[in-house]
Amino acid sequence: MSESANDKPVEELTFEEAAAELERLAKEIARHDRLYYQKDAPEISDAAYDALRKRNDAIEKRYPELVRDDSPSKSVGAAPTEAFGKVEHKVPMLSLSNGFEDADVTEFWNRIRRFLNLKDDIVLEVTAEPKIDGLSASLRYEKGHFIVGATRGDGREGENVTENLKTIDDVPEKFKGRSAPDVFEVRGEVYMSHKDFEALNERQEKAGKPRFANPRNAAAGSLRQLDPKITASRPLRFFAYAWGDVSELPADTHSGMIEKFRHWGFEVNPFFRVCTSAEELLAFYHEIEENRASLGYDIDGVVYKVNRLDWQQRLGFVSRSPRWALAHKFPAEQAMTVLEGIDIQVGRTGALTPVARLMPVTVGGVVVSNATLHNEDEIERLGVRLGDTVVVQRAGDVIPQIVRVVEEKRPRNARHFKFPDRCPACGSHAVRETNEKTGKVDAVRRCTGGLICPAQAMERLRHFVSRNAFDIEGLGEKQIAAFYEDGLITRPADIFTLEERDRKSLKKLKDREGWGPTSAANLFKAIDGRREIDLDRFIFALGIRHVGETNARLLARRYDTLDHFIAEMEKAADRESDAWRDLLSIDGVGDVLAEALVDFFAEEHNREALAALQKAGVKALPLPAQETSSPVAGKTVVFTGSLERMTRSEAKARAEQLGAKVAGSVSAKTDLLVAGADAGSKLAKAAALGVKVISEDEWIEMAGG
Ligand code: IVH
Repeated sequence: MSESANDKPVEELTFEEAAAELERLAKEIARHDRLYYQKDAPEISDAAYDALRKRNDAIEKRYPELVRDDSPSKSVGAAPTEAFGKVEHKVPMLSLSNGFEDADVTEFWNRIRRFLNLKDDIVLEVTAEPKIDGLSASLRYEKGHFIVGATRGDGREGENVTENLKTIDDVPEKFKGRSAPDVFEVRGEVYMSHKDFEALNERQEKAGKPRFANPRNAAAGSLRQLDPKITASRPLRFFAYAWGDVSELPADTHSGMIEKFRHWGFEVNPFFRVCTSAEELLAFYHEIEENRASLGYDIDGVVYKVNRLDWQQRLGFVSRSPRWALAHKFPAEQAMTVLEGIDIQVGRTGALTPVARLMPVTVGGVVVSNATLHNEDEIERLGVRLGDTVVVQRAGDVIPQIVRVVEEKRPRNARHFKFPDRCPACGSHAVRETNEKTGKVDAVRRCTGGLICPAQAMERLRHFVSRNAFDIEGLGEKQIAAFYEDGLITRPADIFTLEERDRKSLKKLKDREGWGPTSAANLFKAIDGRREIDLDRFIFALGIRHVGETNARLLARRYDTLDHFIAEMEKAADRESDAWRDLLSIDGVGDVLAEALVDFFAEEHNREALAALQKAGVKALPLPAQETSSPVAGKTVVFTGSLERMTRSEAKARAEQLGAKVAGSVSAKTDLLVAGADAGSKLAKAAALGVKVISEDEWIEMAGG
């Protein structure tokens, strides 16, 4: 087949293609059933699964003669696993047919009226209740005593999970009240609340066990534990909504039965309505949909059932589902919930990302309690406030997003969120920079904490030891991560005290996993070999924003020693200072870089990290002068006025090449002023300070042509 039939519209399938497609779908759906029911590990979303079934149904409708014996429309769920004993369902546990749109509901309503041939003046009552997203169970009571309980399994035979069901508070051991039928099977949904789900996952995580993807999987996994003690430790709940094998019916309507369940001591869902028109059903549906987030447990739609049981009887079943009921599913992948708070996460580069803390809601089969808000502009764009009801969306497997605010639902006390100007991880200032190229303010606010910010620390450490920085052999990303996690290296200075600490430690490096005497000795040697390092590498290693290798070299050349560099950067915090002007006068240093440098050194933590490095005996070596023999080597030169035979940058580059330092302003430290035409205030200042002044021609001669 050149074009796969998988994605061909049903109307276009040939008879042969339809047959092949039905075979494929039967296998595919059976596989997903196994994953869902037996392994509690679904691979696809409910919506995708529903789409497969819908396609299967549509093809079967078009070619009824092709319906297979193993058609998914004839079975529900999957056969029970071997581990539990089996229970045969005397009355099969069937499924519901699904509706997705309002029109499906009107169609359902009209179909029933037509089927029952109801005259216009005859009232049709249909109940509406939430569709709980858990797993169904059947509880057999004899003379009001709980005898045996089972999962749905494949609908005909389920697993005997009696002992596990007994651990659930909502499953009464015996009926309340005096009279109880000889036999009564109560059916309903075992589920887990959002709160219990979160707590369970937290415990799982602490115990080093995998998290459950959603409350339904958690409920299924918990109910199907071989050890009931484990089930007992998992807070499961149960809503009763249907029945199986019964010796007598205590009511003649569905609503009457639900009322009876309540009397017998079962939990029934508080949202329940008897409706008398399709419009009423839809109104209930939309109400429930809006309140979905505040229920505290997952629902995936609303179930409508014909109220009169004799009419249910008459309507009967079509293949796997009753004609008298419809599951009206919520659209997948989007859900409404409440924004409870905004947390700030600090990324590896110091970017502060706002993360929405949401009232947990299931979106496309996964509980979402967080969504990214990207940055503060996004918060502004959405106009979202704390306490707002928002629409969240999951696109594929990506991080959930907030699509929009439901403004009609804004509570009076909804609060504006004030984006912090301090890093929540380390308390350093967090700033928004101006993009050098576009001149626009960055959308991202960044922590200036650099080395001391724990959120950034590991990434910074990696940078610190990278090839163009300290280049320590044997200390790669993997080792850094391991040392960081164990608290052995949390800041750069720790690298240089590692050996000393190792000597005193009981748990030696050589005994650690992945290390031996030789590799440990080699690492210490490699670290030792880097206690003295060129200043430009040192500056680059600090990981200051915008300071790449080239800028690091410029700075190293200009400031010569580490102490001088640090002192000048601290002074440059004063924008009126010579230090600030000097910094800006360096060719290649613009406002953005200068600001980044000043910000870095303004942070106490960064200064401490540097001091610790120096204390650990790390020394930065001045770069060797490039041409020590030149007459301007080591001198500070200032250019002023307009140069005619070369550009200003060319002149500066040449001066630096000759080992001179180029400054932007004249001070007492200036050795030489090169004055071009129309030199102004700098010339006057040089004269006042007694600084030597030469012409452009003289400079060219001095610079060797
Ligand atoms: S009535 C004959 N009512 O949905 C069908 N089912 O897709 C009797 N479910 O297997 C089921 N909430 O696991 C019914 N209020 C509710 C429900 C409900 C959840 C589940 C149940 C069933 C599945 C059908």
